[in-house]
Amino acid sequence: LCFIKIGSLNDNHGILSYAKKENIKLVIIGPEAPLQNNLAMFLHLHNIDCIGSVSNFSLIETNKAFARNILDEIHPKVNPKFRSFTYESPTNDITKFIDELNDNIVIKANGLKGGKGVKVCGDHFNTRDEGLEYINELVKNNESFLIEEKLVGDEFSLMSFSDGTHLSHMPVVRDFKRAYENDKGPNTGSMGSISYKNHRQPFLTEEDVLFCQKINTDVVNHLKAMYNNHPILRDHSYKGILYGSFMKTTSGEIKVIEFNARFGDPESINVLSLLKTDFLEICQAIINGNLNELNVEYEEKYT
Ligand code: AMP
Ligand code: GLY
Repeated sequence: LCFIKIGSLNDNHGILSYAKKENIKLVIIGPEAPLQNNLAMFLHLHNIDCIGSVSNFSLIETNKAFARNILDEIHPKVNPKFRSFTYESPTNDITKFIDELNDNIVIKANGLKGGKGVKVCGDHFNTRDEGLEYINELVKNNESFLIEEKLVGDEFSLMSFSDGTHLSHMPVVRDFKRAYENDKGPNTGSMGSISYKNHRQPFLTEEDVLFCQKINTDVVNHLKAMYNNHPILRDHSYKGILYGSFMKTTSGEIKVIEFNARFGDPESINVLSLLKTDFLEICQAIINGNLNELNVEYEEKYT
């Protein structure tokens, strides 16, 4: 492997000119900021293939209300109770909803915050006043946000390769986010992640995994249908990785925490190190739209 620093992640022109200079044929977008900056469309317009969707499709990660609203249409039961607010929302509406959830809330800034936009009661704040303080900060910055019911259970992620029509699902991974022994510390980006030999997690049934695979598939299909009549976007589809972040709650229900439009960090290390199929062959199938013809195989090992 060779790493070359070529400039800012947010500099679409710089990335394009480097790709042209080096005659690069395929770009794989890692993090979320270039997805939001529509690097994929930019490269597409210059005939460079890209793993990573154009920004209207990546909204599934970059706009949390967008993702919740789609789920409300296709799988309402996997959403927690939630409501979207803007900086103009009456304070009364906000406190009424917090009452409805008995203060058991998660506050999510709508846009990208580099992993710092989600505040969970009991983790990041303890009292209603502390929660309202964060809300006031968002309001002051003219941001929109969600308030959600706080779910309790085991989190896991199911990532799927998508060519826009066909999905190929990866082994299920569990990311451990809390610091310190016995998960007693604060939520972090990640402390490490685990995958099992049977490509599941001990607390999941086969039906649970099939259900999550269906959710990822339905999201990709819904996005395609949404833009079907759009003059430009109808020629695009979700090409890349859809990362569904799920929770099996203590009452046994599967809920969606959020989606990412990219590989998980560090979950990608778990699944890519198990891949028996050539990764570039998968990328090519994503670009060609024939992922269904490729049998993507993984080793049966713990990672
Ligand atoms: P982030 O990766 O920064 O978006 O943080 C998301 C994390 O916040 C998730 O991994 C969960 O641990 C937590 N979280 C988000 N939404 C909820 C929810 N509705 N209930 C409980 N925890 C949540
Ligand atoms: N491991 C969580 C993420 O990549 O967002």
